Amino acid sequence: MLISKEGRITPELVVKAAELYSTPLYLYDESIILDRCRRVLEMPNAFGLKVRYAIKANSNKALLQLITAQGLHLDLSSLNEGKRAFMAGVPYDRMMLTTQEVPLGEERRDLEKMILAGMKYNVCSLRQLKLVADFAHENNIALSMRVHPGTGAGESATRNTGHDYSSFGVHLTDIDQALDFARKKGLVFDQIHVHIGSGGDPAEWRENIDRELGFVEKYFPDVKTINFGGGFKEARMPDEDAADLQHLGAYAKRKLIEFYERTNRKLMMEVEPGTFIMANAGYLITRVLDKKHTGANGFHFILLNGGMETNSRPLLYGSRHPFYVISKEGQLRSSEFDLSALDTEKDRRVIVGKCCESGDSQCLDETGNVTPRLLAEPQLDDFIVIGGTGAYCSSMTPFNYNSALQIAEVLLRENNAFLLIRKRQTLEQLVENELPLSNNV
Ligand SMILES: Cc1ncc(COP(=O)(O)O)c(C=O)c1O
Repeated sequence: MLISKEGRITPELVVKAAELYSTPLYLYDESIILDRCRRVLEMPNAFGLKVRYAIKANSNKALLQLITAQGLHLDLSSLNEGKRAFMAGVPYDRMMLTTQEVPLGEERRDLEKMILAGMKYNVCSLRQLKLVADFAHENNIALSMRVHPGTGAGESATRNTGHDYSSFGVHLTDIDQALDFARKKGLVFDQIHVHIGSGGDPAEWRENIDRELGFVEKYFPDVKTINFGGGFKEARMPDEDAADLQHLGAYAKRKLIEFYERTNRKLMMEVEPGTFIMANAGYLITRVLDKKHTGANGFHFILLNGGMETNSRPLLYGSRHPFYVISKEGQLRSSEFDLSALDTEKDRRVIVGKCCESGDSQCLDETGNVTPRLLAEPQLDDFIVIGGTGAYCSSMTPFNYNSALQIAEVLLRENNAFLLIRKRQTLEQLVENELPLSNNV
């Protein structure tokens, strides 16, 4: 029996993975990753499509190898992400850098090498533009520009990257100045990029297509590629709807054809999803360490051996993830996707971690308060599996808080074999760069 509505994770596999690698543990389902890659690559498009996987979502070496082998290119948000992907075997000409960083000194030299090796540079500020201008001109390198549209959408305010509360890209009000400078320097922009945020309403994603095409028409005569960013809404919970990529692609295709008919310009389309590729492929396997309650007016707490240091999305965004309760022997007690056997009053529980932090809970609302969820009563040592944890969990958590050790990552291959793709960190690794107070050489 599967624990969730897609993929291949069964209670038996959870028990087996825990026996082999101990818990907490991230388990990724290769079949879901492949399905998501295929679905994005099949998006309708008018004049070509390039898909860049946003590696900030999960930058494990084996996953980068798997995902790029499907034909995806990469979206980077830092130089180190690029170097890391290169170390995993991905050539720079399959990467684009969209960063808040301002590379100076040694980093600047690295940036130049990476650009010369074919990495696309997506200019995100006037300062970045000024710093790269002479180098780009001398080497005849066309640039991309991330435009800040002043409006965006996300699953929470902190995931909206397009509104004026966020600082990403060259703001529309600076475009004239940027283009004026670029003209004087003899620079060419052959690509434009807007990423409005993550997990917002797909209607907003469609609106961005129109808006961005308007920017191309008004400001960018040399642009040949239009990047619509990532941010496809994924459904982690049963009551959520995922973005329909066929529908979004069909809309983009229509708009690109209309644009061509109006301007005689054929634009190639890029998208750069992270969440959509990885989120629902990942499961965090934890065990119940303790149970507590806070009296008649309080809550029933279930304390797990992995919390905010393994999945901090509830704390950061008030995100909800599906819970699966599995007995230590491998019996499914409850699945988020079938709660019909539970008592809607008595079976309300709050999952917390072991960190010394009151926000260390998987059941938080957007204000940071705990909010009970429906799940079966687990016994001590039972498993609680937290779904939707393939993206922005392993790559984004404060994993050494309270001197916790970064946990292992395992891939469930298509042939049902487990593959360890990251070992658990050791305590020695955690402290290896620290130096003592005395005898410090
Ligand atoms: C520039 C850029 N592109 C793509 C993404 C990926 O977004 P998502 O994971 O929502 O698909 C992000 C996420 O923050 C981003 O900042």
